[in-house]
Amino acid sequence: MHSLFTPFRIRGIELKNRIVMPALASFLIENDGSITDMTVEHYRLRAAGGPAMVIMEACAVSPEGVVSPHQARIYDDRFLNGLSKIAKVMKSEGAVPALQVHHGGRQTSVKVIKRKPLAPSPLPCPVIQGDVEPLTREGIRDLVEKFGDAAERAVAAGFELIEIHGAHGYLVNQFLSRFSNIRDDEYGGDIQGRTRFAREVVEEIRRRVGESFPISFKISAQEFCPNGLTVQESIQVLKPIVEAGVDVVQVSAGNDATPEWIAQPMFMKQACLADSAEKIRKALRIPVMAVGRINDPVLADEIITKGKADLVCIGRGLLADPEMPKKAEEGRIEDIRTCIACNTCMESIFRRGRIECLVNPTLGRENEMAIVPAKQRRKVMVVGGGPGGLNVAWVAARRGHDVHLFEKASVLGGQLVMGSVTDYKKELLNLIRFQKRQIEKFGVKCHLNQEVVADTIEEQQPDVIILATGSLPVLPSVEGIDKPIVTSYVSMLEGETPSPKKTVVIGGGATGSEVAHHLSESGSDVIIVEILPKIGKALESMTRKILLRKLRSNRARMMTETTLKKIEDNGVLVSDKDGNESFLEAERVVIAIGSRPDNQLYEQVQTMGYELHRIGDCLEPRSAKVAIYEGAVLGRAI
Ligand SMILES: Cc1cc2nc3c(=O)[nH]c(=O)nc-3n(C[C@H](O)[C@H](O)[C@H](O)COP(=O)(O)OP(=O)(O)OC[C@H]3O[C@@H](n4cnc5c(N)ncnc54)[C@H](O)[C@@H]3O)c2cc1C
Ligand SMILES: Cc1cc2nc3c(=O)[nH]c(=O)nc-3n(C[C@H](O)[C@H](O)[C@H](O)COP(=O)(O)O)c2cc1C
Repeated sequence: MHSLFTPFRIRGIELKNRIVMPALASFLIENDGSITDMTVEHYRLRAAGGPAMVIMEACAVSPEGVVSPHQARIYDDRFLNGLSKIAKVMKSEGAVPALQVHHGGRQTSVKVIKRKPLAPSPLPCPVIQGDVEPLTREGIRDLVEKFGDAAERAVAAGFELIEIHGAHGYLVNQFLSRFSNIRDDEYGGDIQGRTRFAREVVEEIRRRVGESFPISFKISAQEFCPNGLTVQESIQVLKPIVEAGVDVVQVSAGNDATPEWIAQPMFMKQACLADSAEKIRKALRIPVMAVGRINDPVLADEIITKGKADLVCIGRGLLADPEMPKKAEEGRIEDIRTCIACNTCMESIFRRGRIECLVNPTLGRENEMAIVPAKQRRKVMVVGGGPGGLNVAWVAARRGHDVHLFEKASVLGGQLVMGSVTDYKKELLNLIRFQKRQIEKFGVKCHLNQEVVADTIEEQQPDVIILATGSLPVLPSVEGIDKPIVTSYVSMLEGETPSPKKTVVIGGGATGSEVAHHLSESGSDVIIVEILPKIGKALESMTRKILLRKLRSNRARMMTETTLKKIEDNGVLVSDKDGNESFLEAERVVIAIGSRPDNQLYEQVQTMGYELHRIGDCLEPRSAKVAIYEGAVLGRAI
C-alpha cells in the first residue's frame, strides 16, 4: 500500500496520506441544531482512525436550506461553539478539519422548514413533490452572502478547508443541471448561466477566506436522468467553477431522482465512480477526490497508483470501521470491519432520525457501548454461529470470559451464508470474515458440526447459556404443499446454481424477491406471488429500486395482492384481491413466506435452571443487523 500513505498538499495544507472522510450526515444533532458530546465523539473517533482529512457533514447555510431537524447548521453564530469543538478534536487527533457548506433548495419540505422550499425553477423535487418558490435575483444574492457568512464562521471555528456541496440534487446542483434549472435569465440556459450561482458562491467564499485557504467543490458529475449532467458536460461545468477559485473537486454522482448513485448499494460495483474522477482529473488538471463504494484500502491504493485520483474518500467505510486507515497502514487488512453497502446508515437517518450501521452496532453509541473487562470470568456457552452468536461470543471473550461457541453446521455465518449466495450480496462474506477473525483473536473455543441438546449442556456445565439458534422457514398450510415441485428458499440458495425452470416464488418479501432475482439471473422464467401490495417492502429503498429494475429487465412477473390457494403437480392456483382465481403453470414452486424462531433447544433448556439468554432470530426473525446489535449489547452485559 505504497501510494495511499504518501502525503499530498492542497493550497498550503499538508495531508498526511490520501484518505479523506467525505461529508456524511450523521444527524447525531439535536432538533435545534446543537452539537452534543456524541457528535464530537463521533468525529473524534473518525479522525483518530487515521484519515488525512475529515469533512464535517453538510451544514446548512440558511434556515430554509435545512433538510432535516437533525441536520448540522452554520447559519448563526450560536452554532460556533459546537462546531469549534468538532474542529478541535479532529485536529488534535491528527486529521485536517474540513467542513461542508450546504443548502437543500427544493430537496426539503414545508414540514421541516415551515415555508415553501426555494429552487432555481418552479420544478419540485421529484420525490418530495409540493410547491417550490423560484429564487429571485435578490434571493440568489442573499444566499451567496449566506454561503460567505458560513465560510467565515467555519474558519472562525477552526476548520482548515471548506467544501461546497454542489452535488446530490441540492441547491447548487439544482442550478448546474438542466434537469432542475429551466430559468431563462442569466442564472439559467447555457453553461455560463447555469454555473453562475456556483461561481458566485465560490468567489464570495474566496473573498471571505483569503487566498491561502483551500476550497473543495463536490459535484454529481453524472446524474443518470433526462437532461442530467454527464461527465462530458460536468467537465465544461467545472472549468469556470474551478477558475473562480476551487482547489480540489470531489467527483460524486446522483441527484434527488437517482439517489442510488449517491450512496451506492451493494448492487453497484466497488469504486464505480473512479473512472469519472479520472476523466475529470485528466481534463481539468486539478486535484481530484474519488468517492463511491471504495470500501477496501487495497482498492483505494490502486486508484491512487493508477492516477485515477489524488485522494480517495471513504465514507461508509469509516462508519463501519473508523480505524480502517490505521489498520491498513499496519497491514492488518483482515481486522477491518468492511462496509457492505447495505445502506442501513442512509435508511436509519431518514427513517429513525439517527445514524446506525449493520456491521458496527456501536456507531453513534460509542460511549454507552464501550467494552469494559468483566468483573468475574465466567464460562459462557453460545449456541449458534450466525451473526448474533458470533458477535456475542467475541465481545464476551474480549471482556475476559471463557467462551465456547457451538454450531451444528460445518461453517460459521448462519443464514448469512445463504444470504451471500446471490452475486450482488457477496459483500456479506466480508461480515462473516470479520466476525470469524474476532472469534480467533479473542480466543473463543469453536465447536463446529456439533448440535447442542440438553445433554451437551449438562456436560459443559456453563455459567451462562446464550441461545442464538436463529430461525427456520415457514411453510403455508395449503393443499398440495407436499408435492414434489415444492421447495423452500433454503434449498434454492444452499445448492449449486439452480437449473433454469419455470418457477413460481410464493412470497415477495426481502428473501422472496432476492431468490426470484437469483433464479431469473440463472435463466428461469419467474413469477412472484405476493399477498401485500408491494414487493420487497422491507428492503432498503435504493436496494429495492435496483432489485425491482433487475427483476423487470429479467422479465420476472410480479403479482401483488395475490394469494396462494392450492398447489398442483404442474403449477399453482392463486386468487387476486377480488377473489378472481387463475392458474400459473410451473415446474418449481419456491416457498419464501418468512421464517419462525428455532426454539427447539430453548424448550428443553428453559427449565434446567441455568442463566439463560436469547438473541437474534430465535427471539423473533428480523435481520442480521438486529442479531448483531443484540449480541453486542448482551456481550457487554454478562
Ligand atoms: C436469503 C437471505 C438473505 C438475507 N439477507 C440479509 C441482509 O442482507 N441483511 C440482514 O440484515 N439480514 C439478512 N437476512 C436475515 C439474517 O440472515 C438473519 O436475520 C440473521 O442471520 C439472524 O441471525 P442469528 O444469529 O439470530 O441466526 P442465524 O443466522 O439463523 O444462525 C443460527 C445458527 O444457529 C445454528 N443452530 C441452531 N440450533 C442449533 C443447535 N441446537 N446447536 C448448534 N447450532 C445450532 C444454526 O445452524 C445457525 O447456523 C437474510 C436472510 C436470508 C435467508
Ligand atoms: C448516511 C449518509 C449521509 C450522507 N451525507 C452526505 C453529506 O452530508 N454531504 C455529502 O456531500 N455527501 C453525503 N453522503 C454521501 C457520501 O459523502 C459519499 O459520497 C457516499 O456515501 C459514497 O461514498 P462511500 O461509498 O465511501 O460511503 C452521505 C451518504 C450517506 C450514506
